[in-house]
Amino acid sequence: MIEREQIEEIKRQTDIVDVISQFVQLKKVGKNYRALCPFHTEKAPSFYVSPDKGIYYCFGCKKGGNAISFLMEYEHLDFPDALRRLAKAAGIEIDTSKGLKHKELYEVNELACQYYSMVLTKEIGRRGMNYLNERKANLEKLKDFRLGYAPSSGQLVTYMKQQNVSADRLNQVGLTSSGREVFHDRIIFPLINLSGRVIGFGGRGIDDYIQPKYLNSPETPIFRKGDNLYGLFQAKETMRLKNESILVEGYFDLLSLYQHGIKNICAPLGTALTEKQAVLISRYGHKVHLLFDGDMSGIKAALRAIGLLINAQVDVHVASLPRDTDPDDYIKKHGADSLNTLIGESPDFFHFYKNAVKIQTVEDEITLIKDLMQIINTIQDPIRYDRYLKHIETVFNLSPETIRKTAAKKEAPVGLSESPKPIKATDEEQMMAMIINNREYAEKIKDILTEKDFNSEKVRKLFNHIIKNKDVGIDSLSGVVDADLEHTMMELVLKKDERLSEEDFLKAVKKFKNKIENKRLTFLIAEANKKHDDDEVTRLQKEHKELRNNEGVTK
Ligand code: CTP
Ligand code: MN
Repeated sequence: MIEREQIEEIKRQTDIVDVISQFVQLKKVGKNYRALCPFHTEKAPSFYVSPDKGIYYCFGCKKGGNAISFLMEYEHLDFPDALRRLAKAAGIEIDTSKGLKHKELYEVNELACQYYSMVLTKEIGRRGMNYLNERKANLEKLKDFRLGYAPSSGQLVTYMKQQNVSADRLNQVGLTSSGREVFHDRIIFPLINLSGRVIGFGGRGIDDYIQPKYLNSPETPIFRKGDNLYGLFQAKETMRLKNESILVEGYFDLLSLYQHGIKNICAPLGTALTEKQAVLISRYGHKVHLLFDGDMSGIKAALRAIGLLINAQVDVHVASLPRDTDPDDYIKKHGADSLNTLIGESPDFFHFYKNAVKIQTVEDEITLIKDLMQIINTIQDPIRYDRYLKHIETVFNLSPETIRKTAAKKEAPVGLSESPKPIKATDEEQMMAMIINNREYAEKIKDILTEKDFNSEKVRKLFNHIIKNKDVGIDSLSGVVDADLEHTMMELVLKKDERLSEEDFLKAVKKFKNKIENKRLTFLIAEANKKHDDDEVTRLQKEHKELRNNEGVTK
């Protein structure tokens, strides 16, 4: 575990604007910054970053947090990784001697990765090297991929023993299974996450008798296939620069294009594209070109991927390769320029989809229209959405009436509304926001307000936390209060960003307290009236009157 103190120190040394502006174009408005939200689609910016509070918050989708949670959410990092990234930028060393949960597993993979690539340069790796040469892999140009070779006479276990890696650990990262090595006679593709760590391995048999042709590490505590994309780590800068990316099916397709200079490219890890992968790729550019094999399974894979990518709000184009050709074959035969042209001229998903589906009956056509409609219905940008609807109307010769009826069933997506809906906040929550905005006087309200003054248990907890922990601010509430309340507080704190003088602050607190007292007395008087307890009513009314007089003073 990393000490709380250290976390706070790293946050203090971090400028959240620096962090977020690496990914999002921020514009200064007053003392905050604003942008289109990177977590949902919107036309008008409702994503705010507050440098002095150390938080970001979107008034549209109600997502918010500090610099750490931003990196976790945006870059798909886990907490220690996000923290380490910030620490590094701030020049702070984190003491991880007690071991972050997964540190050792990453280390084992790193050692294995080094071993496999070392083998490739040695005599025992000759067969692997020959294979890569035959496939025209240029290891110099591909060095970022850290390719390797697992020899048939597996010696990884011996090597790891020399490195003091326990048999247990090897099993845990899936390099061995019941003590036996998993990869034999295979080219090794290290799978690298967005932080640059080796999380697993893919292996291609170098001979036909080795089955299956491709084998991936099993899922482990640090590796989930569907959450990662092969090559993304190496490609992400280029993708961002070009604002578009290419998705291929195979490891070798990817490497082949990469060494020909097409670098904004990634691939799923031997499975059909998952929703997580689609969202991941959407972060690195507004357009995705699918470049799948020119066979039936390639087309089917593309049809499946389209829906997921459109739903992730990217513009999807699909390049069609000649029958039974994959990108690797194509670029070897026709060169990079030709492939670039083919990709550049590829039709959008709509045209591809329409042409890919064979239509022999009216029913086929209906199915096609409905499938397309379903995909288009996930588009959140109103203009794009409208264009595609119009397009369906024209292409299939449907009446606008029909289209409108079908489209009307579409649920309004989050964030589409022009002005984001403000959250409904209670008085108690408003009060807490004011206290947080004026933290330095929090000590002084102990005599006026106590936890008993708060009805909501959640708010009560927040109140206690704020009063007890001097340096806790709006950027340190995650995990302490529940997420809904945390986000409500963020919205309020940003919206009513008032820094009061001590006097005004205490006045406001007293006013709040009076309001509570007022309510309490009104309630009690009504109760006493019901019971016809005249003495009590008189007493309470007197108290009530005093309160109102006081109120006049504090106003
Ligand atoms: N794949 C897999 N398991 C298999 C076959 C394929 O995981 N048994 C994955 C691999 O990631 C592979 C991709 O699917 O890279 C594409 O498969 P395929 O087209 O068969 O392989 P190629 O990339 O063409 O491989 P090669 O050129 O080495 O034959
Ligand atoms: Mn292929």
